[in-house]
Amino acid sequence: MKNAAKAVKTAVLPVAGLGTRFLPATKAIPKEMITLVDKPLIQYVVEEAAAAGIEHVVFVTHSSKVAIENHFDKNYELEAELARRGKAVLLDIARSTAPDGMVFSAVRQPEALGLGHAVRCAAPIVGDAPFVVMLPDVLIDSEGAGDLAAMIEAWQETGAAQIMVEPVPKDQVDKYGVVDIGRQRLQPGEQAPIQRLVEKPPVAAAPSNLAVVGRYVLPSRVMQLLAETPPGAGGEIQLTDALDALLQQQPVHAWHMRGRSHDCGDKLGYLAATVHYGLKHPQLGRDFAKVLAQWQ
Ligand code: G1P
Repeated sequence: MKNAAKAVKTAVLPVAGLGTRFLPATKAIPKEMITLVDKPLIQYVVEEAAAAGIEHVVFVTHSSKVAIENHFDKNYELEAELARRGKAVLLDIARSTAPDGMVFSAVRQPEALGLGHAVRCAAPIVGDAPFVVMLPDVLIDSEGAGDLAAMIEAWQETGAAQIMVEPVPKDQVDKYGVVDIGRQRLQPGEQAPIQRLVEKPPVAAAPSNLAVVGRYVLPSRVMQLLAETPPGAGGEIQLTDALDALLQQQPVHAWHMRGRSHDCGDKLGYLAATVHYGLKHPQLGRDFAKVLAQWQ
């Protein structure tokens, strides 16, 4: 067994983006703080990280987005007031925004130079440990321990970096990073070596319809490659380009997700996620289903 790969305990969450796709909602609040059912989007992502065994979340953030750090910090005044009023349930909810034992760090991305640049900003904190990247616009709902936990397990078994992918309609590939896995065909829960990765290819030139979803398990080597990566698609420093360089040096696998993804950076995707997570909500789901049934 090649079990030499190190455990993965750190997740980098790039949250510096201004969320212009979601204006006017994002004019004065971070897009990651928009409520989905009864909690902010970012809390779903942090809970997904915790479920996968992550112990340290690093936000790559912007001066306008301190609400994100505050959400996971202790709010002493609120807690004292709820305790004084004897509101035990609410006190528990206010305290449990941060998963038990999770440590948070924040580093600023001073300029919007692209996703690759954002990830690179976390290099001094990540050091030489492997790490996860989670794009918080995308929510992943998977059963059991989840896709991210399975990807970390696959990394530890094979030593290959893991990139989560899912099929998208062929005419949509130009919105995503797209992987080339040659003639292989993947079923959910399967992985295959990537031969090439390309960011937002023209539809006619795309090597497949397997799109990068927004979850990555990566070796620290990526940070050095990012430092050497020139601007790519859209004039931005692309994580995809650094990963294409990585796969010339060591194996990088596509992991076909088993769960379901929702792009909450997009208004329609967000609405669909509201229905999905609303119906799944342990207290509200049943009544929400009745409300929806009345509307049909
Ligand atoms: C980013 C990545 C892209 C990936 C996508 C997933 O693009 O660069 O490779 O497929 O997220 O949502 P963005 O959506 O930030 O343009």
